[in-house]
Amino acid sequence: MVSRVIPVDPFDLVVFGATGDLARRKIIPALFRRFCAGQMPDTARIVGAARSAIDTAAFREQVRAAIGEFGGGRDCPHDTMQGFLSRLDYVCIDARGTAGWSELAALLPHDRVRAFYFSVAPGLFGDLAARIHRHGMASAQTRIVVEKPFGHDHATARALNHELAEHFDEGQIYRIDHYLGKETVQNLMAVRFSNVLFEPLWNSQYIDHIQITVAETVGVGGRGEYYDKSGAMRDMVQNHLMQLLCLIAMEPPSRFDPDAVRDEKLKVIRALDPVAPHHIVRGQYEAGSDGAPGYREAVGDPRSKTESYVAIKANISNWRWAGTPFYLRTGKRLKARSSVINVVFKTLPHSIFGPDAGGGANILSIRLQPNEGITLRVTIKEPGPGGMRLIEVPLDMTFAEALGPEGGDPPDAYERLIMDVIRGNQTLFMRGDEVEAAWRWTDPVIAGWTGRGEAPKPYASGSAGPDAAEEMLRRDGRQWRGINP
Ligand code: BG6
Repeated sequence: MVSRVIPVDPFDLVVFGATGDLARRKIIPALFRRFCAGQMPDTARIVGAARSAIDTAAFREQVRAAIGEFGGGRDCPHDTMQGFLSRLDYVCIDARGTAGWSELAALLPHDRVRAFYFSVAPGLFGDLAARIHRHGMASAQTRIVVEKPFGHDHATARALNHELAEHFDEGQIYRIDHYLGKETVQNLMAVRFSNVLFEPLWNSQYIDHIQITVAETVGVGGRGEYYDKSGAMRDMVQNHLMQLLCLIAMEPPSRFDPDAVRDEKLKVIRALDPVAPHHIVRGQYEAGSDGAPGYREAVGDPRSKTESYVAIKANISNWRWAGTPFYLRTGKRLKARSSVINVVFKTLPHSIFGPDAGGGANILSIRLQPNEGITLRVTIKEPGPGGMRLIEVPLDMTFAEALGPEGGDPPDAYERLIMDVIRGNQTLFMRGDEVEAAWRWTDPVIAGWTGRGEAPKPYASGSAGPDAAEEMLRRDGRQWRGINP
């Protein structure tokens, strides 16, 4: 399958924090791949801006190295690198001072699409926004892109929204949740809203419960300082898992346009019940048998109570979902990297084959990564004579097989999202009220366990997480679908 490249208008993209980790790992390689794909117009320019006192030549060398390390373009000829590097400029800038700002403004002479990517600590968002404005770089065609963490709680997220709103309209602010840029996450909407098959069954009358799992094998690595102040709840649940929950649970938007989609997502978040303490399990990984450090060692705090794993039973109080729980879990250093949504349908009201014939509930599994695809577990007759015995079999579609190589090797989320910024399409970005609503649900959960002084339960690295998470479902007569590679 050959992907279609839809050209975008000429643009200037300024990346603040251009020498930082996110820029090197994700933003720059994504831009390079779009360049290789032929999506970048001839006059598009990228300006790196950071504190480091380097010149454009040195920045280009850093970019070359980053692309080499973190993934160049597929099928990208060697000399294409030169072409890409020639699009780059660099300005040494002081986000809180005056140095570099006039120089930056001079590099952006045209009033055309101008995007400013804030790949910096949130504490600098307001300073950057104010200076872009002050130096005459904010026009109707200007957009700003901000990364998570968008706040630490509701109050800080709200304050950030206010700071940005002083200089930019909501329609100019692109809050990234990179999960929304993943092909398979967008596919959730395609599966739900382009097939007549699922939507009539998509409610508490037919669905017993839904499980959303985002399991990682990596630990906190070198991000201990940030992570220990966040934990899995802030790092993953408040944003990525909430977004998955919204896409699975929302009402069909009237159109696939930014506000129609985001209005429906917001309604889901607002309909979430507060979470009872016995519907939460927190865990913290221990040292691995492979010699990898345990969580506390990794973050350098032998008494840390921060969770690297969390499982939650969430309830959405609306007509569609009352009575169908959503079980969310995410954790680090688990036994496999596996992001999957399991929609577990109810069992039949009555089996004409009798209670001993076998068979089970239909389960729709949507594998987000890796091994992207969809499996529907259906019940059929076991072949052979000897009466009507039923067995469950998977109706399996792996995208790589069904769609060819591109189905199994989709573009990185950042490629899609950055091009959407240039196109001015906010559908896959979080609106300010959405982020605030997500924090409003998350804050009391965190305040609850902090107030109770609870420590997370230890779990073995390479396991499926704490036993208590299994127990939480067992109490409901259910079980987690396995974390499978
Ligand atoms: C980030 C979190 O937002 O998402 C990380 O901060 C996490 O802790 C990462 O590892 C997971 O993203 P992905 O794309 O690898 O599933």
